[in-house]
Amino acid sequence: MLPKWFDKWNADNPTNIYGPAILIGAIGAAVFVVALLVTWGQPFATTSLQTGPRGTGMSVPEFKSDLAAGDPTAAGYLARSGITEADTAAVSEAALANVPPALEGISPEAYAEMIVAMRSWTGIPDLMEDPENYQTQVAYRMVAMVQSLNDEWGGHTNVSGEAGVNCYTCHRGQAVPNNIWFRIAPVNENTAGWASVQNRVTPQSQYTSLPSDALESYLLDTQSIKVHDLDSRVDTQPGDPTWQNAERTFSLMNYFANSLGVNCVFCHNTRAFYDPAQVTPQWSTASLGIIMVQDLNTLHLVPLAEEGILPENRLGPVYADAPKAACATCHKGYQKPLGGMDMVSDWPELALVEPDFTAATN
Ligand code: HEC
Ligand code: HEC
Ligand code: HEC
Repeated sequence: MLPKWFDKWNADNPTNIYGPAILIGAIGAAVFVVALLVTWGQPFATTSLQTGPRGTGMSVPEFKSDLAAGDPTAAGYLARSGITEADTAAVSEAALANVPPALEGISPEAYAEMIVAMRSWTGIPDLMEDPENYQTQVAYRMVAMVQSLNDEWGGHTNVSGEAGVNCYTCHRGQAVPNNIWFRIAPVNENTAGWASVQNRVTPQSQYTSLPSDALESYLLDTQSIKVHDLDSRVDTQPGDPTWQNAERTFSLMNYFANSLGVNCVFCHNTRAFYDPAQVTPQWSTASLGIIMVQDLNTLHLVPLAEEGILPENRLGPVYADAPKAACATCHKGYQKPLGGMDMVSDWPELALVEPDFTAATN
């Protein structure tokens, strides 16, 4: 307790101390915040990528802190240089004896390195051990699929000449890659002539009221994404399919933007979505990506269910269909998967549909 004389003096001399106390508190807080900003920097600083001519508003803003952090899963990538002799020596004779058809002719040393890497990339420790195991059979096909993605679709996956893809691009250390999708439409009751594919929150609609069948219509089927004409909409009524088609295209475009962590002007000049003369170079890469994903789904993933290779617990909840891939399966929310990391120059085995093993060096 305070001495008595102080309490008495205090009672005799009443003073309002709230004003000065608040002032001193406010100044102190301001000094503290300034000190933080000076030592740590502005936490919400942004930078932007200019995608079109100046003055058109064509730019993609990003937080500097996000760009500096990059994709956290990049750190878990096992490169060829990270594989030791002890790692390859631990690969069994049985695994080495069963070379996937797509790698026929590979040297045992190089194949042992591939097995070590594929086990790390997919997080399956006994992958390739037993040729009868379904995971091994899927992996055999995945090797051919990756070769095709790098060779036949290099115009997308290696447009810069220094990227490419391997198992880690999709799997990131997990047996089942994330951002896969299944067919689910119809998701609702028909209403007033509208096909029953929308107004239900699903991952396929990016949790919006937009149609949930955009991925299956455009990235599995090959329906036309183009919807734009210059006619008036005054005469059309709800139920006119052109309305829902426009929403379905918008659903797909939303998915594109979210998959790459960009906005619409990364690919379009938004004053003329329909005009191929006003798009960015990335629009062309995306265009090729659409056909690549159709090819990936129909030639490589759908057959995994049709031929009965995948077990039931891996199939879709509504149609028991195979898991399918799309933009986010590789991109994971980033403009380039793994920040455009080089995934193939280390692994020539995975770069060509018909690899030339006589020239292989490692
Ligand atoms: C374009 C993306 C993509 C790439 C690249 C890719 N995979 Fe896959 N992988 C998938 C999808 C999608 C599935 C189906 C998921 C499932 O099995 O439920 C799958 C499934 C698998 C499975 C079965 C897993 C399980 O438990 O059901 C194995 C094994 C596998 N992949 C191995 C590989 C290997 C090895 C490579 C590289 C040579 C590779 N994958 C490259 C997309 C990819
Ligand atoms: C990664 C690139 C990319 C992004 C991001 C993107 N688009 Fe697209 N968009 C395309 C491509 C490629 C096409 C052409 C598809 C086709 O016709 O095959 C297209 C087509 C369209 C069309 C149809 C044009 C027509 O001729 O009818 C519209 C409308 C559209 N986009 C709107 C948007 C909107 C709105 C956004 C933002 C939410 C967006 N896009 C984001 C690449 C992109
Ligand atoms: C098999 C994996 C894979 C899939 C699936 C995929 N991409 Fe890509 N994409 C890549 C890779 C790898 C790059 C980087 C290429 C490079 O830098 O050389 C890339 C680059 C791009 C770029 C150029 C980015 C830039 O900064 O120039 C665009 C745009 C793009 N992808 C759009 C899409 C769209 C849209 C889809 C879905 C329709 C898609 N991608 C599906 C692997 C993929």
